[in-house]
Amino acid sequence: MKKQLIAGNWKMNGSLQSNAALVSALAAGVSNARCQVAVCVPAPYLAQVQSRVAGTRIDLGAQDVSQHEAGAYTGEVSATMLREFATRYCLVGHSERRQYHGEADATVAVKAQRVLAAGITPIVCVGETLAEREAGRTEEVVKRQLAAVIHANGHCISEVVVAYEPVWAIGTGKTASPEQAQQVHAVLRAQLHAATEHSDRMLILYGGSMNAANAAQLLSQPDIDGGLVGGASLKAADFLTIIAAAR
Ligand code: PGA
Repeated sequence: MKKQLIAGNWKMNGSLQSNAALVSALAAGVSNARCQVAVCVPAPYLAQVQSRVAGTRIDLGAQDVSQHEAGAYTGEVSATMLREFATRYCLVGHSERRQYHGEADATVAVKAQRVLAAGITPIVCVGETLAEREAGRTEEVVKRQLAAVIHANGHCISEVVVAYEPVWAIGTGKTASPEQAQQVHAVLRAQLHAATEHSDRMLILYGGSMNAANAAQLLSQPDIDGGLVGGASLKAADFLTIIAAAR
């Protein structure tokens, strides 16, 4: 059976000191985890966290990548640079990147390509805003976002992890109900199924105010294969409770 993945998204949080404390608490708590575990950290901390997770059950992830291979792109970080720090995962198309940095579906698709080419697993984020949900456009939006990535990546799509993150649930304390989330996950699974024969072994994570109290119910849904956890991944005890709820 495939293992679920619980990935923490630290966003723009942390310090050398607090990272060290968080990772050592997690490392001590994850040794018996049934699921896969990752932390997606700010780029300046990749080296620090790489050395601290070495030899533990925790994999390293990044939060974003340049769509370009190399060159005159001041401030950007390439996929091959991420790879040098043994980065296993990279978030792509997080809603905060789409919203605050104008990332379009086509850009997200190219980023996923760059990440795959560097031997890193992209975690491609999709999700609707509140206005889109209220207008009954949830399916249309998430399918459009995923279609761009499928189109650009061909058969490599089976190497991608998908994260469904309803924008209205991110950092708001409002979680999609397990039924609401499962409904969208089933739509995404069907879309992946039409694109690859490996859709069953692909992971579709849920993200958006997942916490120690609601994780077990969300993670028990048939098409929810893990979680992308923001706020609750910054507290070792909460993140470990979520990890313990995963299979
Ligand atoms: P949240 O963030 O868990 O704080 O809602 C999730 C995410 O944005 O990945």
